[in-house]
Amino acid sequence: MVRHLITIDDLTEGEIQSIFRVADEFLKDLADPQVPHRVRGAKTEAQGCILATLFYEASTRTRFSFESAMYRLGGQILSSADPKTTSAAKGETIADTVRVLQNYADVIVIRHPCEGAVRVAADYADVPIINAGDGGHEHPTQTLCDLYTLQREKGTLKDLNVLLWGDLRNGRTVHSLVYGLARFGARIIPMPAEGFGLPEHVVRRLAQDYGCTPLSNDEMSRVRGDKFPVDAVYVTPEKPHQRSLFSDVPEKGSEVLKVRLPANALAKIDACYVTRLQRERLPEGASAADSYPVIDAAFLKDRRYRSSSVMHPLPRVEELGYDLDNDERAVYFKQAAYGVPVRMALISALLRIRPDLLGQGPPAKKHPIYTQGTLGCENTRCVTGLSSEQRYLEPRFLIIPEADRLLARCVYCEHDMIPEFVGRLSTRKFEPNRRTFTEIPDDLLLFADEEAALRRGCSPVRQKAGG
Ligand code: NCD
Repeated sequence: MVRHLITIDDLTEGEIQSIFRVADEFLKDLADPQVPHRVRGAKTEAQGCILATLFYEASTRTRFSFESAMYRLGGQILSSADPKTTSAAKGETIADTVRVLQNYADVIVIRHPCEGAVRVAADYADVPIINAGDGGHEHPTQTLCDLYTLQREKGTLKDLNVLLWGDLRNGRTVHSLVYGLARFGARIIPMPAEGFGLPEHVVRRLAQDYGCTPLSNDEMSRVRGDKFPVDAVYVTPEKPHQRSLFSDVPEKGSEVLKVRLPANALAKIDACYVTRLQRERLPEGASAADSYPVIDAAFLKDRRYRSSSVMHPLPRVEELGYDLDNDERAVYFKQAAYGVPVRMALISALLRIRPDLLGQGPPAKKHPIYTQGTLGCENTRCVTGLSSEQRYLEPRFLIIPEADRLLARCVYCEHDMIPEFVGRLSTRKFEPNRRTFTEIPDDLLLFADEEAALRRGCSPVRQKAGG
C-alpha cells in the first residue's frame, strides 16, 4: 500500500524512530569529516527513481534539502518552485496536477498555501505524497528534523521541557511539533507573542488525541517559580494504558490535568523553539504583534536556560539574535543540516527502498467519517474553499464525540466546528447538538444551523413539555 506523509500522525512513533535510525546510518556513512552533522557524497540506493518538488509557496531549506537528499540517495529530481510556471496558473486542479505528475515521478513533495491541499493531492495519487507545508496547518517533515535534532542533542524526547516561542497561532511547524512532542512525552511550554497562542483546535486535539492537557493552576504555581512567566505547561501521560499512574487524567475534553511534578520540574529548560511571525498568514489589514519577543544572549542568561538547545525552523527575521550564532546552545543550523539525512531516510522509507521501515497501512483513524454533504468547512483557509477544487471536492469530516455534543473535524485542514444541530436520515428529525451519543448512528446528519436542517427536509424534534 502506498504511504503518504501529510500530517505527523501519518507515522507511528515506532516508524518515526526507524526513520531516525536510518538517518543516523546515513550521517555515519556519509559524514563530512570536518562537519559531522553534514552529509557529503552519495549513495546509489535510489538510482532510477525520480522525486518531484511542486512548490506553490516560497521555500529554501525544505525544497533544497529534499532535492539534495534525493541526489545523495542516487536519484534524480524534477523541480517546480514557481507556481506561475505550472498549469495551476491556468486553473488546473490539485487532483488533476497530481494525477499527471505521478506519471513522471515516483514520489512527489508539495507545498501549498491552502490548509489541507496536500491531503487532497494524496487522495488522488498512487505514488507517495509528502506535505512540505500546507498553509498554517502542518509541516510534518520539519517536525521529523526537529524531533531528530532534539533527540540527538538530549539523548531522549521523554520528559524534556520544550519552550515554544513566537507565533504559535499561524506557525505550521509548531502545530506538527506539538503533536510530536506530546506523543513522545515531552512537556510543552508555550510562550507566544501576545495574541499568537496555540489555536483552540490544536489544544483540543492535544487533549483528545494524546491525553495531553495543561497543568492545574495549583500545580503551575507550585512548579513555576517567580521568574518564569508562563501560564501553561502541557503534559502527557506516558502511554494511554499508563494513564492510571496519573491521578485524575481526563479521557477526553480539555479538563485540567491533575498531575504532580517534582518541585524543580521546570528549573531547567531543555530547548527553546523559536519561530518568526508568519506575516503572510495574518488576515488582511491585521496589525502585527506590538512587541514580538526576541531570544538573544541576554535572554538566555537566566540559569534556567544554561543548557537549553536553541532551535528555529528558519528563516529567522528579528526574533532570534545573531549574538547567539557562536553560542554552543544554538543548534538551528545543525537542525537545518539534519534535513538531508532525515529526508533521505524518509524517501527510502516511502519508496520502500528500505522495505521494513514503514508498516503497510497508515495508523488507523479512530473516528468515523461524515460525508453527507450537509456541512461545509468554516475555515476560510481550507482547500475546500478554493473555487477550483470545489468542482470535485466533497467536504468530509471526522465525527468526534465530546461529553455532551459532537464535533466535526474537517478531514483536510483539521479545523473543528460545532454543528448547532444533529439529526437522523431515517426519521428526518433534528435537535440541538447537546446529546451524549454512546454510539454514532450510521444515518447521522449534522447541520451548522436550523436553515441547513430545514433545507435538507428535516423537521425539529418536538420538545416535551417542561423538558
Ligand atoms: C518554515 C515554514 O515554511 O513553515 N520554514 C521551513 O520550512 N523550515 C518556517 C517559516 O517559514 O517560518
